[in-house]
Amino acid sequence: MFSPNTITALRSARSVVVLTGAGVSAESGVPTFRGAGGLWRTYQATSLATPEAFARDPKLVWEFYNYRREVLAPLEPNPGHYAIAAMEARVPEFTLVTQNIDNLHRIAGAKNLVELHGNIWRVRCTNSVCEHSANAQENRDVPVSPLPPRCDACDGLLRPHIVWFGEMLDPDVIRSALKATQACDFFIVAGTSAAVQPAAGMPLLARQEGAYVLEINPERTDLSEAMNESLQETSGVALPHLFEAAFGG
Ligand code: OAD
Repeated sequence: MFSPNTITALRSARSVVVLTGAGVSAESGVPTFRGAGGLWRTYQATSLATPEAFARDPKLVWEFYNYRREVLAPLEPNPGHYAIAAMEARVPEFTLVTQNIDNLHRIAGAKNLVELHGNIWRVRCTNSVCEHSANAQENRDVPVSPLPPRCDACDGLLRPHIVWFGEMLDPDVIRSALKATQACDFFIVAGTSAAVQPAAGMPLLARQEGAYVLEINPERTDLSEAMNESLQETSGVALPHLFEAAFGG
């Protein structure tokens, strides 16, 4: 399935970074954002996943996140998530950077995980002087109620701990993703259309810095040409193969 060069490079890698997008969760039943049936086609993203929408109608925005919580709650990691977690246990330095907010990597056992876009099971206070504005809290309620939820400490509005359109990513989170990317010698990008920065630039940065770069995606993307290998396969099939070929037996 993979070229011998890919397997040799992964086997000898001291530091590995895996970057994932919605496609890695597709085989668990999570809808992707773009393409047929994509979430951003079904919903007016700009009217729901923005700070302006939340300021205008927090209840409506929370109803959207309650819907997404309901969809995600029963879903489980797939073999792709588990293969990534297994790889982490075999590589000296390993960082998983995900654009996904669904928590499935953590459920599969990922430890050194950087969540670029937040996590749907966490909430934080919108009152900037409240201690809970910087420290997101876990909230597993399905649905969250009453709407909109309020902070126990200050009665401020709680919001999902998710990066919305038009918002900056947490600079510390970006810093740790880029640091790992620059330091790695093997980089895997799986299940992302590579349409959103800064994630889209990471595979190219890794390559520039001398890493071997592998893409796994059933479709070709804007990144494919620039990769050492680009495999057109689903991550739930390809990642277990990759693990087995490099570390199995
Ligand atoms: P997209 O929906 O843009 O892209 C999903 C990618 O997964 C596509 O390239 C598909 O070809 C691929 N794919 C589909 N099924 C797959 C499978 N079984 N195995 C592997 N790949 C598969 O999702 P992202 O690239 O993750 O941001 O989107 C990036 C960001 O855009 C999201 O995090 C979200 C969105 O706006 C925020 O919400 C902040």
